Amino acid sequence: MVVSPKRRVTKAVIPAAGKGTRLLPLTKAAPKEMLPLGRKPVLHHIVDELLDAGIDQILFVVSEDKACIFKYFDDGSSRFSSVIQPVQRGLADAVLCAEEFAAGDPIAVALGDSVITSGEDAHITKRLLKAYETLDAACMIAVEEVPEADAPRYGIVKPKIEPSDVFEIDDLIEKPPIDQLPSNLAIAGRYILDASIFDIIRHLKPGALGELQLTDAIRLLLKSDRRVWCSKLRKTERRRDIGTFASYFEAVIAECCADKEFGEQMKKLSADS
Ligand code: G1P
Repeated sequence: MVVSPKRRVTKAVIPAAGKGTRLLPLTKAAPKEMLPLGRKPVLHHIVDELLDAGIDQILFVVSEDKACIFKYFDDGSSRFSSVIQPVQRGLADAVLCAEEFAAGDPIAVALGDSVITSGEDAHITKRLLKAYETLDAACMIAVEEVPEADAPRYGIVKPKIEPSDVFEIDDLIEKPPIDQLPSNLAIAGRYILDASIFDIIRHLKPGALGELQLTDAIRLLLKSDRRVWCSKLRKTERRRDIGTFASYFEAVIAECCADKEFGEQMKKLSADS
C-alpha cells in the first residue's frame, strides 16, 4: 500500500518541563526525566523507543532549568532540538510549544515521565504510527486497562464499540470522577496528533487541575467531527510512570531485573530481601 507522505510521521515531541515535586529532593539534583533507570536515564529509554519506531527528529519541551536534557542528547546532528516552555500551564500548553517544530506535519507525542516496556515485535508507538498511516484519524492514542479505583488519576476514553486492538472512540475525559467512568481504558502517554490540534489548543480553556489539558483539546477535535482512534497496550507491555517514588522504584527494580548481565543476580537479591 502506498502511504501518503502527509500520514508518515517522522517528528516526535517529548514534554519534559514538569517540576518533579513529588520526587524531591532527588529532582533538585537532576530532572526526573534524567534519573537513572538501569543503564540509561529515563528519557534515553523513551528516545530509543521513538528512534526505533522510525522517528528521525525529536523536540524536547523543557523548562529553563533543564538545559542538561538537550546537552545529554546533542550529538551535533539535527535529530535533537529543544524549546523552553516558559510557564507550565499543562500538557496541551507544552504541545503548543511544538507548533513551529511541527510546521504543519503530524507529530508523535511521548510523555517524558512514562516508560513503556514491551515484549512485542512492534512496540505500541510503532503500532500507533502504522495505524495512523492507514486510518482516517486526526489523532491516535495509546491506552491501557487500569483498575477502576485508579481511573480518576488518568484521562479515560469512551470506545464507540466493544474495543479490540485498535478501536475508535467517541469521547474522552480527563480525571473523571469514579461514578462517571466511561470505561477502564486510560490514556497511556503516547499520542499521534495532526497539526489541527494547535489551533484548538490556542483557544482551549483550563480543565482538570486548572491546567490546559491535551485530553480536552482532543475532545474538541471529536466535537468538530474529526475521528480519534486508540491502540491498546498488550499483555507483554507495561507503562511505568516515574513521577512518584513508588512508581520510580518499581521501574528501577524491573529494569535492573531485566539487565542482560546482572538481571538474574538482581532478581535473586530482591526475592531474598
Ligand atoms: C497525563 C494525561 C492523562 C494520562 C496520563 C498518563 O496526566 O493528562 O490523560 O492518562 O498523563 O499518560 P498526568 O499524569 O500528567 O496527570
